[in-house]
Amino acid sequence: MAGKHEVETHGYDVVVIGAGGAGMRAAVEAIEKGCKTALVCKSLLGKAHTVMAEGGVAAALGNVWPQDNWKVHFRDTMRGGKMLNNWRMAELHAREAPDRVLELEEWGALFDRTEDGRILQRDFGGHRYARLAHVGDRTGLELIRTTQQRAVALGVDVFMECKVVRLLKGDDGAVNGAVGFYRESGDFVAFSAKAVVLATGGVGKTWKFTSNSWESTGDGHALALWAGADMIDMECVQFHPTGMIWPLSARGLLVTEGVRGDGGVLKNSAGERFMFDYISPYFAAETADSVEEADRWYDDKVNYRRPPELLPRDEVARAINSEVKAGRGSQHGGVYLDIASRRSPEYIRRRLPSMYHQFKQLADVDITAVPMEIGPTCHYIMGGVRVDADTAETTVPGLFAAGEVAGGMHGANRLGGNSLSDLLVFGRRAGLAAAERALGQPGAPAVAEDQVEAVAGHCLAFFGRDGGENPYDLHHELQETMQDLVGIIRTASELEDARQRLGELGDRVEKVGVTGERAFNPSWHMAIDLESMLACANCTTLGAIERRESRGGHTRDDYPQADPELERVNMVTRLTDGRYSVTPEPRPAMPAELASLLEEAEAEEHGAGDPASTSEVKVKEGQG
Ligand code: FUM
Repeated sequence: MAGKHEVETHGYDVVVIGAGGAGMRAAVEAIEKGCKTALVCKSLLGKAHTVMAEGGVAAALGNVWPQDNWKVHFRDTMRGGKMLNNWRMAELHAREAPDRVLELEEWGALFDRTEDGRILQRDFGGHRYARLAHVGDRTGLELIRTTQQRAVALGVDVFMECKVVRLLKGDDGAVNGAVGFYRESGDFVAFSAKAVVLATGGVGKTWKFTSNSWESTGDGHALALWAGADMIDMECVQFHPTGMIWPLSARGLLVTEGVRGDGGVLKNSAGERFMFDYISPYFAAETADSVEEADRWYDDKVNYRRPPELLPRDEVARAINSEVKAGRGSQHGGVYLDIASRRSPEYIRRRLPSMYHQFKQLADVDITAVPMEIGPTCHYIMGGVRVDADTAETTVPGLFAAGEVAGGMHGANRLGGNSLSDLLVFGRRAGLAAAERALGQPGAPAVAEDQVEAVAGHCLAFFGRDGGENPYDLHHELQETMQDLVGIIRTASELEDARQRLGELGDRVEKVGVTGERAFNPSWHMAIDLESMLACANCTTLGAIERRESRGGHTRDDYPQADPELERVNMVTRLTDGRYSVTPEPRPAMPAELASLLEEAEAEEHGAGDPASTSEVKVKEGQG
């Protein structure tokens, strides 16, 4: 490009930003539809947060429980999301997840098997039946491996270690490209595109303790917001109940829910199975209310109710938080997760190999012999970019979003395993709709030189500020603010405090200075990532102030109940002329047919308790 800054340029039909499962699946679909497709990722290909969905991909295949079907999965997802879910997304997800899993198998994914050779499914919180197809505790990794192999074989062009800084827009207001830089060289690169798919994952690095890796800085959320897209329900943030808490260097690292699915139980410092004290009305009817009943369930899942350790994540994380606050925590401020006293060492090593190695190598703890110390860790954001359920198109034409960056699918709380199925279902749909848009457009859009120049100038301005603030110090302050004031339990005064601090941090981020060269300069990268994290933090905090109720991953100490009126609204955050706003906006009501399906699923569930109808699905150790 002939501007003031040297910029490499490329032209594509479809540009996918992010190479986790959603991005890979979108790219596969766009290529298969005949589009010239680029996959742009901030880290190396194959290294995405998708690998942190370890325990499995949820799909009503009915391999372990023949009674399972999409309707029960839909019901579980809505109930787990505390009914705030975009019901159309939840419906599409439940209907299409089995096909997406079988397709993965056709592409070479090696799932664990039942004794008769079908894909094995395991139990997870909030899922009525053992529903998670899995590869030990490395399911996300297998999903990435399989989709990556497919995308590369089909001929996707990959731009690795490339950070996208802004989207480009045409005179018609549609997104028509993106601009960023290569992390290794610091050189700028611009893409023209007929359609752009955001698949950038989450925002976890905005909090101090997180399962997320360094890439999860809310880049796609911020790109969409800056391009004028609506964000919804950003206050709904998931704290996975079981992250490592010790040693400090490993704090936040995920301990898969598969540990509880495979028999692990939670205990406080007095050795009590405290989850029995925290059974919510949502799940009371199907949750065991005594240790004896819960323990029988492991051998007879037909006639006994599920243990409370398998309640949804929002409920388990709050319970752990309360135990620690009440002084019944473990040595390092968490609680104990015990599978050693319940399963054989051979079983644990076979089913949970990564957990075994993770604790052995990082904490010198043998989980086949002693309990793990765990506590909640920021894992996932349910809120995100507002999308159309069928096409994944955002409120800005030409811009699509799939996976964690998109809001709506999971409502106020995501069930474990539903992220891998979400990213397959909506990755495919986003890729398809983006391809259709691209194929309907004649000619390639021109890269807007003035916009690219402005972005390059903005990025380089960090180098010119002598004595500017250190980006790592500001990141630390941002994380402390979000951890302390916008964490698992929130109050109006703390949220207002957070809002004020974020305003101040915003002013200070504009004064950040970095030294050195552009070639692999981590301080520079952090300075630019800070802008995205701050944008997301503002949306979360504003949404949390406005949602005066407790629902799923948003708990207000000052409004402890769910408010039925607020179930009917999304909190929509926007950025207009540099100012954030939040507005409660009504959600479409669920159509009567779908609402009656929820009731039908309840009725079917009661049938499932009938031993005569389920005698062939006695579940053995290692089988669901
Ligand atoms: O616990 C886990 O294995 C995580 C799964 C998920 O987030 O879906």
